[in-house]
Amino acid sequence: MSSVEGKEVLLIVGGGIAAYKSAIIARELLRAGAKVETILTDAAQKFVGAVTFAGLTGRAARTELWDASFSGELHVELASRADLIVVAPATADLMARAANGLANDLATATLLCAKGPVLFAPAMHARMWSHGATQANVRALIERGATMAGPVEGPLASGEVGMGRMHEPEAIAREAIEILSKNSSDLDLVGVRILVTAGPTHEAIDPVRFVGNRSSGKMGLAIADAAVERGATVCVVHGPISAKAKHEQRIERVGVRSALEMREAVEARRESVDVIVMAAAVADYRPATVASEKIKKGQQELVIQLVKNPDILAGLGAWRGDKRAPVLVGFAVETGDLVGYARSKLERKGCDMVVANLAEHGFEGDENTVTIVTKQRADALERQPKRRVAEAILDRVRALLRE
Ligand code: CTP
Repeated sequence: MSSVEGKEVLLIVGGGIAAYKSAIIARELLRAGAKVETILTDAAQKFVGAVTFAGLTGRAARTELWDASFSGELHVELASRADLIVVAPATADLMARAANGLANDLATATLLCAKGPVLFAPAMHARMWSHGATQANVRALIERGATMAGPVEGPLASGEVGMGRMHEPEAIAREAIEILSKNSSDLDLVGVRILVTAGPTHEAIDPVRFVGNRSSGKMGLAIADAAVERGATVCVVHGPISAKAKHEQRIERVGVRSALEMREAVEARRESVDVIVMAAAVADYRPATVASEKIKKGQQELVIQLVKNPDILAGLGAWRGDKRAPVLVGFAVETGDLVGYARSKLERKGCDMVVANLAEHGFEGDENTVTIVTKQRADALERQPKRRVAEAILDRVRALLRE
């Protein structure tokens, strides 16, 4: 039996051209064994009919807050029996009303009554999506625990191409199923805002060359993916990497190049997060000067003078001082006395946890052998996929958050 068998999904269809694709979301959820009930907003009914959804789901599609045929409070009942509410397409207007707690139709009144997870699949013109008002509303919804699936880049109804197209219905259904298959105990980081740094930094020598390292960013992305699945709101500040997260759509990504840029991006966000995980392999040094033109070969030797980069993690530790928030997690690569060096790094950089590994144990691969060191304990984990290492790190982060 599928883990979503018999689960109740309330599908709220907003008024956008993508509304016709919501029928496919309903079908996919039904195929997976869920029960689906539908609300159509007034605007949605300009695009699709209640009969379509009634036919698919076998249940009347609801459209009226003031339903005289219904003796109870329809919005309360619909919200109460839903294990998950999916809003697709989530228009700019519908999200604005939900973010501001309006309840002037059945869709928003029901959302205000929601007791479980809510998944929004935004769809609108690119300029509406990028507008500050929409972005603020999306942030507000995410901060209250909602999940966003999309939007994606592609052809828009206007004929233009841009960010704002609704995610494909099959992908939205998959995300819904993933949320439904989780036990509430797996969602132990709901409401927690996590900043993860990932990958190397590239320190420019001239316009085409840099000093860098081989970090792939996979460990940081594994932590980001694991945190998303546990309900956290995740931002990844990363150096130049090609690796992708599994949950790209649900992660805020901020790309930087150098250590100085990474510090700026991290410091700009440090006050609005609960946890910072410094998984990036920040270059310790950068060229003292950056040539404005490409350096030509000619001389037999070329000496590049390097100057020290600021230590971002140590800077965060000093800024935080005696406060307990945000939780600070550092990484360390050592060649000996793993726990000893990790402890001294913990003290020196003022962080709560150091994830240490021996240099010979994989930098670019998909597995890692780490020892997790806190002030009180040192846990040596067996070699395992980075994704499982990420879960172990988050288990300890959660324990620190609860302390
Ligand atoms: N780090 C940082 N800023 C730097 C260098 C490192 O924030 N300029 C962070 C990394 O993201 C990582 C940890 O510090 O979390 C790694 O420290 P590492 O470079 O191993 O430590 P160092 O203090 O440079 O120690 P060592 O003396 O071993 O080089």
